[in-house]
Amino acid sequence: MNLKNIICNTALLLVMGLPCIAQQKNTFKPQAALLATINKNMVDADAQYKVFAGELQPGQFPKNFEPKTGKLETSNSGWWCSGFYPGTLLNIYEETRDEKLMPEARRMLNLLAKEQYNTHTHDLGFMMYCSFGTANRLAPSPDYKSVLLNSAKSLATRFNPKVGAIKSWDAKPSDFLVIIDNMMNLELLFWATKATGDSSYYKIAVTHANTTIKNHYRADHSSYHVINYHPETGAVQQKKTAQGFADGSAWARGQAWGLYGFTVMYRETGDKQYLEQANNIARFLLNNPNLPADKIPYWDFIADNIPNALRDASAAAIMASALLELCRYTGKADGQQYFNTAADIIKTLSTPQYKSAPGANGGFLLQHSVGHLPAGTEVDVPLTYADYYFVEAMKRYKAFAGK
Ligand code: GLY
Repeated sequence: MNLKNIICNTALLLVMGLPCIAQQKNTFKPQAALLATINKNMVDADAQYKVFAGELQPGQFPKNFEPKTGKLETSNSGWWCSGFYPGTLLNIYEETRDEKLMPEARRMLNLLAKEQYNTHTHDLGFMMYCSFGTANRLAPSPDYKSVLLNSAKSLATRFNPKVGAIKSWDAKPSDFLVIIDNMMNLELLFWATKATGDSSYYKIAVTHANTTIKNHYRADHSSYHVINYHPETGAVQQKKTAQGFADGSAWARGQAWGLYGFTVMYRETGDKQYLEQANNIARFLLNNPNLPADKIPYWDFIADNIPNALRDASAAAIMASALLELCRYTGKADGQQYFNTAADIIKTLSTPQYKSAPGANGGFLLQHSVGHLPAGTEVDVPLTYADYYFVEAMKRYKAFAGK
């Protein structure tokens, strides 16, 4: 038995965050032309992300931009997207090493820090791991670690053992609402177990993911958006949508969150059932007759007005980033398809159809995302998370060139 096998068979170490994942040999060859495009995109992103600093009033975070009115909409630190702006600044900084980005990144982290004690949202993974998690990865510090740990503790308060899940949205006492998006908040919990040795965070993440596989997914491996559980018995009361076209539809961003979330689950646990789940979601998305040739999904895979339905650049960016991780773990043929699709997405998002002209688009990198179409909010606008996952996807693509 070699050292790797010994580690894999040591359950305690597994729980402490040393999973055995079967990384395939990295044989996917990045295209030189796309690498050049990405390098240019990063330079452009560096310039573009300096626009916000001049627009934001104290305490404001960028939220979206209305192209027709030219109005930048902002939020406070409690909005679920507040971590994406500082996270994107830091990720761009990692590429360009432009010190001029850092004062703004630090200013936003300071504004965001108080959310570590927020127990009224499940979005702490998005808010705190994309921001402080990135900051701590680039320059580990006890202060960042403390913020992340308190954030994980706050998130864990929302776990209900009877349901086997973390509550997403606060609602009336007889409802316990869990959305597929919540898979994205689990990475923070894995970090907390690795940082402290306390396996309770790990166990919550695994339990939540298992409950999600059981109840959110359909036979074709598409996902419902919202499951309403009975908070005392854990029985499923409703399967429905909030942001999708219909209860039985496949809201594109929800599918992308699931793809990304189960890829992380496999990375963090080494459990093959999560790899299978991620592969099944990828197949649903990539072999879907409603996925356009340019690989930018419609906002819902079964919206009623396809091919005239709006596209969602945010779902595309999340898919690209997830596929560029998943392709490392899966077989060669599937992996090549994932890698090529992610490249196609990055290429399409790099065209003027999606990528902002310098100085335009309120400071955002990408145009044409769909936030909440049924509510009529954030429809066909730039969004912070589209930019965040676009930058992450480009970095992941570059990593295949050893850069
Ligand atoms: N987590 C909310 C959304 O994806 O819109």
